Amino acid sequence: MAADGIGHNVLAQVGEIAQALIREVSRAYIGSPQITEALLTALLAGGHVLIEGVPGVAKTTLVKAFSQTLGCSYRRIQFTPDLLPSDITGTYILDMRTNEFVLRHGPIFTNVLLGDEINRAPAKTQSALLEAMQERQVTIEGETRELSRPFIVLATQNPIEHEGTYPLPEAQVDRFLIKLTMTYPAPDDEKRMLATYNRPAPELRALVTTDDLLRMHDLAGSVHVAEEIFDYILNLVAHTRAHRRVYLGASPRAALALLRASKALALIRGRDYVLPDDVKALGSLVLGHRIIMTPEAELEGIGGHSVVTEAIERVAYKQSRQLR
Ligand SMILES: Nc1ncnc2c1ncn2[C@@H]1O[C@H](COP(=O)(O)OP(=O)(O)OP(=O)(O)O)[C@@H](O)[C@H]1O
Ligand SMILES: [Mg+2]
Repeated sequence: MAADGIGHNVLAQVGEIAQALIREVSRAYIGSPQITEALLTALLAGGHVLIEGVPGVAKTTLVKAFSQTLGCSYRRIQFTPDLLPSDITGTYILDMRTNEFVLRHGPIFTNVLLGDEINRAPAKTQSALLEAMQERQVTIEGETRELSRPFIVLATQNPIEHEGTYPLPEAQVDRFLIKLTMTYPAPDDEKRMLATYNRPAPELRALVTTDDLLRMHDLAGSVHVAEEIFDYILNLVAHTRAHRRVYLGASPRAALALLRASKALALIRGRDYVLPDDVKALGSLVLGHRIIMTPEAELEGIGGHSVVTEAIERVAYKQSRQLR
């Protein structure tokens, strides 16, 4: 595989950097390393992450720690009912000295953007963000500007609060490559958090540069995918479409998202080819939020994640007999 793939040294180096980043984040965020791995996967795949979790489960702590270790610019937008699209993208203001209009860049001009409580702003403002996420550019007063590279939005939303919130339309949730659900920490982790709470917050080191990240993004794109993996992804997706409790199964865009994410995860794990385990690890994170259940299933609390988990249990990965 290495002959026409990524060199062994480069792979080993990328794998080590990824592990070091995950370790560094764990100095501030006590919890599953898979969560940080998922953020890194989205970043290298050029996607965005929706983080759902009740208050106080370290959503902000995680995102801040992640951006610090990347050595990237970081901005945060608190979404509120009166937030305007121009509060995100920027606006022209009159410079009194020169009597000219100058652009004041909005917080979207950054590498890592934390959109806190995204469901607290009305649809028009949410769309401004979602549009920019998709197109990687914004138009301000008719002038189009490119966003920074890399650019990743990590948006949070609170699942239980309904009053005064504007749920993201289902058709827009799939702008997020990955949806993470953060739950209460494992007992041991929570105990460790209590035991260390009065230590000063650790200063996290930046372990990579934006150039390193762009290079890793390019490498992720060149990770090899065997035909069996294509078939495996398609069979998983087909399972969600044929499921009797599903109203709308995973779309072709969802299949593509799973492929992109799997390539990034393979690279993070030090390989230049995708394994079925990469696809399995990401199935629920990438597909779960894109599946719309029938109203009856929703009432029973059966969500897209259980459909994907079932698909992973039942769909077999068929290895070709042909030797490569
Ligand atoms: N797993 C954890 N690891 C480290 N610190 C934690 C963890 N869980 C909670 N904390 C601590 O709890 C506090 C709340 O965390 P944080 O502000 O990141 O939560 P949040 O999910 O962003 O909450 P909110 O939804 O209210 O914004 C912080 O002081 C943080 O250090
Ligand atoms: Mg927070």
